[in-house]
Amino acid sequence: MPESRVAVIEGDDASPEAVKPTVEMIDNMNLGIEWVYPPVGAQGEALHNSIFPEEARQLIDESDTTLFGAASGKSAFALVYLRWGKQTYANVRPTRFMPGCQSPLAQPEGVDFVIVRENLEDMYLMVEGAIESLAPADLVSPILQKKVAELGPGKYAVKVITEAGTERVARYAFELARRRKTGGRPGKVTVASKYNMLPQSDGLFRDVTARVAESYTDIDFEMMIVDNFAHYLVRSPQELDVVLLPNLYGDILSDAAAGLGGGLGLAPSGAYGDDYAYFEAVHGTAPDIVGRNIINPTATMLSATMMLDYLGFKEEAQRIEAAMAAVYREGRFLTPDQGGTARTTDFVKAVEGKL
Ligand code: IPM
Ligand code: MN
Repeated sequence: MPESRVAVIEGDDASPEAVKPTVEMIDNMNLGIEWVYPPVGAQGEALHNSIFPEEARQLIDESDTTLFGAASGKSAFALVYLRWGKQTYANVRPTRFMPGCQSPLAQPEGVDFVIVRENLEDMYLMVEGAIESLAPADLVSPILQKKVAELGPGKYAVKVITEAGTERVARYAFELARRRKTGGRPGKVTVASKYNMLPQSDGLFRDVTARVAESYTDIDFEMMIVDNFAHYLVRSPQELDVVLLPNLYGDILSDAAAGLGGGLGLAPSGAYGDDYAYFEAVHGTAPDIVGRNIINPTATMLSATMMLDYLGFKEEAQRIEAAMAAVYREGRFLTPDQGGTARTTDFVKAVEGKL
């Protein structure tokens, strides 16, 4: 009997070049992990028309977790199942500066924060349409004082924020801040949304998170308008601890956060629900460097350490992270995005050598 079963979806374009050596490295640690490979759907279909094979669904259901490579075409359907099918509502995206990596900040030391991005609601329900079709609803813009349907040909998109969806991700963020506080972090949650322009939807996000904050008196809490937060993120990232954002702002600002920390090549993520979690690099599929063995595997490897932590291999996860930090400090086996000349597999071997 294996101790854990992990579904691996290697992803598209250059993504498998990061996932394969990561899996190999962990496999060599002999933790009793069984790796299974769900077959993914047909290439090139729109996200919402997905035909996600039943067999893949089953393999994911029977696994403890999924390690996911970046998706463009065929693997994107898996993402729909991993998010909405498995109700993984808290997308956790840490940014921690590792000495030796190339951050654009003059003083990146001490940057160590986590964005918790609500992962299932907001604009991600993919409800869009022609504005003419809004006529029966008689939707009036309070800004224009006229019916939206009268604006002529165009499209609308729907943003949905629910009380329950906001409350569960807010609880997740506060619990995370508590866990981090025991590890010496300040214990603070920063929430941002655009509640001045969207007083109902983003206003609800603000109100529900503020209510949840009341039951965490041991955790500091600050509320911001999201554009102001973007400024704060760039100017004072050392002051951040846990950041809670609705889905779309979280998507956009987690890429910005990755840039601050040294680039998308370094940024990991884990998406957690009550019964399942999957782990994935924040970056895309890097089609421009496919087949060259130069994709930075750091983001995938750090996502894998978050996965090991989730599976209960806490000590092993820390060992890998320490080994990676050592390789960055020494700077001899870094990939081109970090100013080095090493290949993907050289970097992974260098980390393995430190384990
Ligand atoms: C991400 C990605 C996805 C998203 C895409 C691939 C749908 O950008 O995980 O951040 O927007 O959530
Ligand atoms: Mn994104």
